[in-house]
Amino acid sequence: MNPSFPNPSLPDTERRNWLIATSAAGGVAVIATAVPFVASVTPSERARAQGAAVEADIGDIAPGGSKTVEWRGKPVWIVRRTPEMLAALQGQEAALADPTSARDQQPAYARNPARSARPEIFVAVGICTHLGCSPTAVPLGSANPSVGADWHGGFFCPCHGSTFDGAGRVFKNKPAPSNLEVPPYRFLTDTRLLIGEDGPAQA
Ligand code: FES
Repeated sequence: MNPSFPNPSLPDTERRNWLIATSAAGGVAVIATAVPFVASVTPSERARAQGAAVEADIGDIAPGGSKTVEWRGKPVWIVRRTPEMLAALQGQEAALADPTSARDQQPAYARNPARSARPEIFVAVGICTHLGCSPTAVPLGSANPSVGADWHGGFFCPCHGSTFDGAGRVFKNKPAPSNLEVPPYRFLTDTRLLIGEDGPAQA
């Protein structure tokens, strides 16, 4: 078991609160039509909401650790995988629905078994491809009965039981129809990532 494997998902309660908050904000904007909503939003906040790329410092993510950043209102996980976590991606192909990621769920530079531009850095949108719940990280060797005894580490969606490996590849016979989405991204340096913008994968 790798106890340092991260839990990069946003807690369900946070996600729920966020949805409630944004719904409430939308209602206020409709009622208060005399005061344009955009007037209270700074240019940088507007750009962010419209999908501007987001820069993330990844230098502080320890091996096996992770962080979550927001891009286009979605949680994006950044995981620094260990050699053990990378090794655990192998040998499960027969159990995966789309092991080679033939379906278009990632940029071309992430269409490989690790689903990443650099194997040790995994970047994915932390939203289940079934109905949009937030999966939870479950470490290698976990005793969690929801994932079965032969668990190599990955993500579990508690809403309807979909499971994903450590590269976000969905297992067969689960409600989620496809692998977790990998957003466009590029390395600005070894320690800074730009999420939301394609480009050379290596700095
Ligand atoms: S939303 Fe994840 S399994 Fe249904």
